[in-house]
Amino acid sequence: MSEIMLQKIQDLEKRNDRAFAGGGADKIAKHKQNGRLTARERVEVLLDPGSFVETDRFMTHRCTNFGMEKNKVPGDGIITGYGRINGKLVYLSSQDFTVNGGSMSRTQANKICKVMDLALKNGAPFISINDSGGARIQEGIESLGGYADIFTRNVTSSGVIPQITAIMGPCAGGAVYSPSITDFVFMVENTSYMFVTGPDVIKTVTHEDVTKEELGGAVTHSQKSGVCHFTANDDKHCLLLIRELMNFIPSNNLDDSPTLGTKDSPDRIVEALNTLIPDNPKKPYDMLQVISEVVDEGYFLEVHKNFAQNVIVGYARMNGRPVGIVANQPQILAGCLNIDASRKAARFIRFCDAFNIPIISFVDVPGFLPGRDQEWNGIITHGAKLLYAYAEATVPKITVITRKAYGGAYIVMGSKLLRADVNLAYPSAEIAVMGAEGAVNIIHREKIAKAENPAAERAKLTAEYEQMFSNPYVSADLGYTDEVIEPALTRKRIIDSLEMLRNKRDTNPPKKHGNIPL
Ligand code: HXC
Repeated sequence: MSEIMLQKIQDLEKRNDRAFAGGGADKIAKHKQNGRLTARERVEVLLDPGSFVETDRFMTHRCTNFGMEKNKVPGDGIITGYGRINGKLVYLSSQDFTVNGGSMSRTQANKICKVMDLALKNGAPFISINDSGGARIQEGIESLGGYADIFTRNVTSSGVIPQITAIMGPCAGGAVYSPSITDFVFMVENTSYMFVTGPDVIKTVTHEDVTKEELGGAVTHSQKSGVCHFTANDDKHCLLLIRELMNFIPSNNLDDSPTLGTKDSPDRIVEALNTLIPDNPKKPYDMLQVISEVVDEGYFLEVHKNFAQNVIVGYARMNGRPVGIVANQPQILAGCLNIDASRKAARFIRFCDAFNIPIISFVDVPGFLPGRDQEWNGIITHGAKLLYAYAEATVPKITVITRKAYGGAYIVMGSKLLRADVNLAYPSAEIAVMGAEGAVNIIHREKIAKAENPAAERAKLTAEYEQMFSNPYVSADLGYTDEVIEPALTRKRIIDSLEMLRNKRDTNPPKKHGNIPL
């Protein structure tokens, strides 16, 4: 090597070192005090070893307000580039809180947009690791423009490539809107926060005292608001969870989901299911147990685990092929559908449909949750989201009715009446307009009132109604149920159905877009 080339390479190394130093040793030490990884360490944990290629390492901001010309760090507080997760190409950005609090400058936005454009053009997922105080205040409206460019790309890419966000620090203002457009939001317990505006501003405007944990911590967003889909104990756990999710989802909307080999036989008979559903229809049981008995190797990645637990959604494999699972949970609110459950399941179904992931539904639903609170908050509109999502989905849809499937909730939860492909029912299924007691109280009100012994009359009429309607055979007789199966056959039949539907083609009429009741 010539002396000149050697000097040039040494100069390059110095520049690289300057970029790698981020906000400097002191700020990095402070950042790491409470267990957080640096922006670069996060990229290393997320990606397959040695696969990361950085883009725009030397870009800096052009702001001269408030002496910012003296505050320049190569890369400007964000690391962008591409790499692989389990061999699959992904594009990413990772904000460096040690550089101006990871705040969004015009330069940061340009760097992010560049990789987002590449991700869209090349049909690969985009992962954003956010650790930012929001718009860079010194740049003012320039940085708002940057956010708008990112939001636009989030929207354009929606339904074309999967978009995933990890919230790994205090994220405020613009730093929270892009995540909520993306498909999945991950948060780290005790170190990450999301709010439109923080506790100080709230105190000034509304005089309300609230801690940042209460306002926008991982618990708040995974349990109350539903903004967050997955929570993790620490940074490393969060990044490994993203890797796990990536195993189930395709690279883009034209790609097939990643299929893995499995040792679990497609013909496995699940005897346990013959005893799992209680004889007494009022007795709860754990639908998660049904799911884990049925899916490959009992492995289920639950999404939105802590939010609206009366419905369960998540990913699993059937004979090696990824499926999305939607299920009522009789243990919580008797499995009723309410506003949050409808929103949760509808968004999940739309992701599966956009990315060609078949939907398997397990149904035990007594209806929509009644009450003033639900009505005032718009259960009609929110419940309709779920109905819309199921009806609109063109991926293979297979539904297993384990017990109750009443009224509107029966129609909504993947019934054949809403374009599902296969409806299977257990002998314990009760597919009816409503539960026997409720029905009898309405249609036999006078008869019961006039009876010598109203309680005995009600019991007799209820038994008659149950005999007539609380079973799967009326629906099987009408062809609304394809097959009544012994529960032990559930796994085999779902896999048979998936095979039967392997080449399913179904489309919706051409339109600009539908008008889902938002
Ligand atoms: C410029 C910022 C910044 C920002 C933080 N910093 N946020 N610099 N613009 N938005 C800088 C700090 O000045 C500090 O610099 C360093 O980052 C670390 O910040 P600290 O406050 O010391 O850290 P911490 O105590 O952990 O608090 C973090 C924080 C807080 C909660 C994020 O910094 C904060 O509240 N920031 C402002 C949040 C906010 O209101 N953003 C909204 C912007 S408007 P030094 O040099 O001291 O280390 C917006 C609108 C977009 O985003 C709307 C689009 C729809």
